[in-house]
Amino acid sequence: MQTRILDGKRVAEEIKAEVSEELQKLHRQNLVPGLAAVLVGENPASRVYVGSKTHTCKKLGMHSETIELPSETTTDKLLEVIDRLNRADEIDGILVQLPLPDHIKEEIILSAVHPDKDVDGFHPENVGKLCSGKVGLAPCTPLGIMYLLKKEEITIKGAEAVVVGRSNIVGKPMALLLLHQHATVTLCHSRTRDLAAVCRRADILVAAVGRPALLTRDYLKQGVVVIDVGQNRIETPEEGIHLFGEDSERITKIKEKGYTLVGDVHPRDPIGVAAAVTPVPGGVGPLTIAQLMRNTVTACCMRRGLKVPGSRFQVSGYRLKVGG
Ligand code: GUN
Repeated sequence: MQTRILDGKRVAEEIKAEVSEELQKLHRQNLVPGLAAVLVGENPASRVYVGSKTHTCKKLGMHSETIELPSETTTDKLLEVIDRLNRADEIDGILVQLPLPDHIKEEIILSAVHPDKDVDGFHPENVGKLCSGKVGLAPCTPLGIMYLLKKEEITIKGAEAVVVGRSNIVGKPMALLLLHQHATVTLCHSRTRDLAAVCRRADILVAAVGRPALLTRDYLKQGVVVIDVGQNRIETPEEGIHLFGEDSERITKIKEKGYTLVGDVHPRDPIGVAAAVTPVPGGVGPLTIAQLMRNTVTACCMRRGLKVPGSRFQVSGYRLKVGG
């Protein structure tokens, strides 16, 4: 079977082009949506993600602020920062980069972000709205994946969708979005009995467990569409050779940069078995950032009582059309 590589970068560019059009309309009304990213501590991957988010904001013509705080920041201090951002008129979206240091109470922090500025869709009010199929802000990675599936004309209605990983950021909202679009959804996790057999049922398989190359050929049905959310760092050339074979580009990357990324799905196994697969890197990652831009525009319009722009594929952050 010929396996199609789903180019997340290209689709992300299309989302950003749609966002850019909406931004131009807002600029004509003297409105500049603003995103604040809060980064606590020294997690190098988080620093890279936040850097890409603010860079993309600026490139598209949005206002962006990064608030960097030391790892010893207290929950109370972080709450003060969020309170200021909740009240700042130039800020439409607030993103607190996860994971937070262990001593900070994540649940308290995520509940403190005003639901109208909650561009991550992590506030309990937005979680509830997503769960019950109401209009609200929803998490960026699953929304970006829905956009990709629709853009690539992958049938969701009636499909067997298997989501591996039950995180609040990806697994659970992903399962709900697929369910709202009439997939038959199975949500699996580390304790699922015979995970491979359950995965082999999937027409659409979403891997979001954070375990490098966990899903091998044995997990894949002929013709499955594989969406790989994993972004695991591989830091030794030996491991790299084991996963990528003699792909010298990857091994060079490890030697030069100190790491290369591998997904939760084995990088070589879907080829020839799956109908389509997202690569790592260049698959889901760029979609998340593009969707964050859209969620920020959505939050801006919503907060100002303006019409919320939809998407050609009707999967925007706010106007999440269910049953369509
Ligand atoms: N850490 C990993 N993914 C995400 C995300 O989508 N949003 C935030 N805030 N933190 C993350």
